[in-house]
Amino acid sequence: MSPRRVRAECDSVGRQDRPLRFTVDGEPVDGIQGQTIAGALLAAGRLAWRQGRTGAPRGVFCGIGVCFDCLVTVGEERDVRACRRRARDGDVVTTQSRRPEPRGPGLAHPILQAEEES
Ligand code: FES
Repeated sequence: MSPRRVRAECDSVGRQDRPLRFTVDGEPVDGIQGQTIAGALLAAGRLAWRQGRTGAPRGVFCGIGVCFDCLVTVGEERDVRACRRRARDGDVVTTQSRRPEPRGPGLAHPILQAEEES
């Protein structure tokens, strides 16, 4: 999957773009009908929208629905693969994180504690 998209006026098959807009964590993202949520995010220049357990950024890895690296919440539905879900006008998308919550002073997750100490 590429963050670039062919502009309609440059498309050799005469495609007509129908624009759509959805929000990700309250920020508007523009796309075109038929694009996946991940495709629209990549086209908007956003390469990562989730955090793994270590806090490492995650976005599209496989792009075909296998790795689950691109998970988002769409409306009330959690764990939606952004590379498989077509964006719809008005979708409310929120990002997810698998990073553990700090457990209080002295009880932080070992990985988080190591990051904070460095
Ligand atoms: S990028 Fe692998 S499931 Fe979406």
